[in-house]
Amino acid sequence: MEELIQRAARDLVRSRHALALTGAGISTESGIPDFRGPGGIWTKNPEAEKKAYQAYARFQADPKQYWEERLSQPSLLGSLESLKPNPGHLALAELEKMNILKCTITQNIDNLHRQAGSQNLLEYHGNAFRLRCSSCHSRYDPGEYDLKRLRQEGKLPPACKECGAPVKSDVVHFGEGIPADVAEQSLEQASLCDLMLICGTSAVVYPFALLPRVARERQDARRHRAVTIIEVNAEPTPLTFENISDYLLQGKTGEILPRILEEVKKLRRE
Ligand code: APR
Repeated sequence: MEELIQRAARDLVRSRHALALTGAGISTESGIPDFRGPGGIWTKNPEAEKKAYQAYARFQADPKQYWEERLSQPSLLGSLESLKPNPGHLALAELEKMNILKCTITQNIDNLHRQAGSQNLLEYHGNAFRLRCSSCHSRYDPGEYDLKRLRQEGKLPPACKECGAPVKSDVVHFGEGIPADVAEQSLEQASLCDLMLICGTSAVVYPFALLPRVARERQDARRHRAVTIIEVNAEPTPLTFENISDYLLQGKTGEILPRILEEVKKLRRE
């Protein structure tokens, strides 16, 4: 593992445009269960996964009922407010501050990268702390609507202040398209990068899982791999088995990413 940590640090220091791609695995050490790991939400409760696949259809069929349910039930991920970023999030935020990491594209909706200080952040599946218009994609803080009063006055769903269409959670549900702005910027980053650090994702959900494949297909003028793809994950993934990634540091992101950051700092001092 030490050799791979040194190698990852050298690759990062040499890179011109490094990206981080993250999934639920980077947040488990903050107390948020992942989905498909041994203790994952879907692993433990396949019914919940089936329900999650119907959420968007339920919203489209009856936005008012979607909101009634949403306001009467605790969020699937429990109360996120009390949870804090862990050393894995903080390491990525520091690599960005060192201008090594140019952007982080996360599937996570838990706001922990933002809390850790990551600025150049693309939230591919949205953010649980935000609302978004189902039509023009205008985004709102929940505080911009008095949801309790709207519910009492029978005025749900909240209407977009720009176009009047029903507003929903910013979270991208299964079957819902990735908001065009985030999708475009993510694809652009995958086409620009020369290093991808993929942390804590099983890489089985599309279209996010396409991003490493887009990067892998790029070759330099001498038809060599133009991008170094590194995985930091508790277990191998299809990216490992299909040789999309160059190497896997198998273990906890909360332990490995700070070690890589330490080695990067040493190389930077040399
Ligand atoms: N360190 C490293 N890897 C970890 C850790 C950890 N501390 N904890 C879990 N993992 C690994 C798991 O072994 C698994 O391979 O992280 C991966 C998490 O995979 P998933 O649970 O499938 O989460 P993710 O890849 O983010 O899921 C993608 O699926 O349900 C949808 O919208 C949801 O964004 C989510 C998407």
